[in-house]
Amino acid sequence: MSAGVCAFILTLSALCGSTVVSGNVSRPTNVHLTSYNMNLVLRWNSPKGADSNLVYTTQYKTSVTNYIEGCVNISTLECDFTRLSTSVHPSIIEYGKYTGRVRAQLGSESSDWVESDHITLDKDTIIGSPNISLISAGATIEVSITDPVFAVSALRNVYIFASYNITYWKDSQKEKAKYISNIQQNRVVLHDLDPWTKYCAQVQINTETNPNPSKPSRTVCEITTSEEPSPWVAALVTFVFMAMAVALVVVAVVYRKSIFHFLCPKDALPQHFKEYLLAPPNSTIYLAMRNSHPPEEIYHQVSIIADNTTVEEGGPLEAAKTTCSKQREITAGER
Ligand SMILES: *[C@@H]1O[C@H](CO)[C@@H](O)[C@H](O)[C@H]1NC(C)=O
Ligand SMILES: *[C@@H]1O[C@H](CO)[C@@H](O)[C@H](O)[C@H]1NC(C)=O
Ligand SMILES: *[C@@H]1O[C@H](CO)[C@@H](O)[C@H](O)[C@H]1NC(C)=O
Repeated sequence: MSAGVCAFILTLSALCGSTVVSGNVSRPTNVHLTSYNMNLVLRWNSPKGADSNLVYTTQYKTSVTNYIEGCVNISTLECDFTRLSTSVHPSIIEYGKYTGRVRAQLGSESSDWVESDHITLDKDTIIGSPNISLISAGATIEVSITDPVFAVSALRNVYIFASYNITYWKDSQKEKAKYISNIQQNRVVLHDLDPWTKYCAQVQINTETNPNPSKPSRTVCEITTSEEPSPWVAALVTFVFMAMAVALVVVAVVYRKSIFHFLCPKDALPQHFKEYLLAPPNSTIYLAMRNSHPPEEIYHQVSIIADNTTVEEGGPLEAAKTTCSKQREITAGER
């Protein structure tokens, strides 16, 4: 019975040999080297049932150097080699091929070293998202891009031919997105946009050596304003306006009589009535009408209207009447 259990435990130990050590301290597991924005971080898991006093020591090397001391006696499960003081440690090189290792320590005892995979910083680092901001100017939008900050060097130093891929779309129409790639400058103006429309944009960075593009930037939206008219459009509008004004003046001069008759239609008396009025007073009815002083009655009515509306004599109403009467006289004289 107990022999069977012992045999089982031995078999398990053989199978899981990597986690169980000959000494008293178990090795860390899942050791891997990662890089984000050109930093270099070793990460691992604590061994199963680890003592709470367990500490870790890490080391790193390039393909051409021996191991160099990293973090010593730390209780966390990661060590950022790019954060180590560069006065003691040689600085991390952007094109270096790195390997890390870690061991667990409990008092004076320590586990074996566990080595990580190796990574080449510029090829394997995960490039973080760039930052973008949009400024609309008329029916165009200017996209400004800020590169992610690198732990070692800078994006433009590591990736000389880095380019931006700008994707933009009308808000809520992302499936119809357009993109412009191979942009090297970090300020780009998007043309051919509709005025008064909300556009959204997102940027990713492509590099020549890193097979993966950067993380996409946040999506930023901006509304275009009115289309700014180009100078020749403004000139055309001015020309058309002036031509119309001139045409209007010419028409007014040529047809001034017709216009006048249109404006003062009350004076356009029937021809036979005008002739009758201009004829010498030779009828008894006319004489009778003169004797009864009908003009005085009409004048009297006008006075009443003026009093009621408190319009003084010689006001607009009076002036219009005078003008129309004068014109009638002229028209009559010409005939
Ligand atoms: C790390 O811990 C070990 C064992 O406790 C000790 O001997 C060593 O001096 C420590 N190293 C540092 C740098 O603290
Ligand atoms: C991105 O840029 C905007 C404006 O320039 C700024 O307000 C914002 O904090 C930046 N975001 C990040 C993550 O850097
Ligand atoms: C740019 O981004 C768009 C949308 O994400 C993608 O379809 C296109 O392949 C990218 N172009 C390049 C050159 O990376």
